[in-house]
Amino acid sequence: MTVNRRELLTASALLLAGPGFALRAAGRDAGSTAAPRVLCWNENPYGPSPAARRTVADSIAAGCRYPSDDELDSLTAAIARHEGTDARHIVIGTGSGELLRALGLMCSREGGGLVAAEPTYLELPEYARTLGVPVQFVPVDAELRHDLPAMHAAVAGSTRAVYLCNPNNPTGTAVPAAAIREFIGALPPAVMAIVDEAYMDFADGPGVGTVKDLVDGERRVIVLRTFSKIHGMAGMRLGYALARPDVATALASLCMTTPNILSVRAGGASLGDRAFLADTRRRIVASRTRITAELGARKLRYAAPQGNFVFFDTGIPLAQFSARMKSQGILVGRLFPPFASWCRITVGTEPEVSAFLSALPAALRPSAA
Ligand SMILES: Cc1ncc(COP(=O)(O)O)c(C=O)c1O
Repeated sequence: MTVNRRELLTASALLLAGPGFALRAAGRDAGSTAAPRVLCWNENPYGPSPAARRTVADSIAAGCRYPSDDELDSLTAAIARHEGTDARHIVIGTGSGELLRALGLMCSREGGGLVAAEPTYLELPEYARTLGVPVQFVPVDAELRHDLPAMHAAVAGSTRAVYLCNPNNPTGTAVPAAAIREFIGALPPAVMAIVDEAYMDFADGPGVGTVKDLVDGERRVIVLRTFSKIHGMAGMRLGYALARPDVATALASLCMTTPNILSVRAGGASLGDRAFLADTRRRIVASRTRITAELGARKLRYAAPQGNFVFFDTGIPLAQFSARMKSQGILVGRLFPPFASWCRITVGTEPEVSAFLSALPAALRPSAA
């Protein structure tokens, strides 16, 4: 494949300009002036919560200030209350992505390898790899869930950490908490267990739940949560880790920056907006069921979804499906090898889900031979 200079410049401009620019460009490609329906990033379109919005509006003038220690402490205390623990167990990050990277750094400093599922969320594995950490990927099982026995077998003397994304992105599947507990209990003592529960608030499968209580045990267990999903604050960049106090201190020392004052204040407000959180969960789960019902009626295979997205087999090359969706103004998730015909679709608002379902027949039709 050859790439000419103009394509190269366009690609670099898109990379530098970030996803917002790329999305606007995609909307133009669709030949429409309407904004595209963005169902590719697993965002929660209902957020931020009303309480968080009011707080941000009231705090604009404070944008000239750094968040004070008191404000950071009060967010940490609110998170600790929300999680039923104490502040010494909480590390705040500029998105849980920052904490995943800090964990990659920790792994690299300890000089060992990382075991992760394939496919899974790549922020930690890819960052760790750039730091020289050997990453062993273990394919998901036939139901597209973490293959815990195979992951256990992949743990070697040199392994320093295992990454468990539960529910998993991009497959959406989750393994029951009991299976995670058993898996972690059987790890060699030196191996850290990193459990990413970014989507846990949308889970409703039998036995699926958090393992946050494990952070207080003998071995190092770190549980990650984010404000990007159920709180609908992806653009505001706020997340946190739960860990044993000594692990929390080590992790905090590897973070690279401090969240901005608006997200710190909005995060506290969102935690208190229980009505918003419950309503968001109810609506996302209902729309998720609507999507799987339609996929089932069309006899399309899908992985049992536990997050705010559905991973399903289109039966045609994903590039073709995505292009047809894009021409109807809908942006779907990227390719996740080795699932060449599978698509990850984010559960958007009810009208967005209706638009996706209406666009489906034309996007699925077999190509003319
Ligand atoms: C499994 C998982 N963990 C973490 C993140 C990153 O979240 P944040 O926005 O908090 O950095 C994502 C984002 O999509 C995710 O899918």
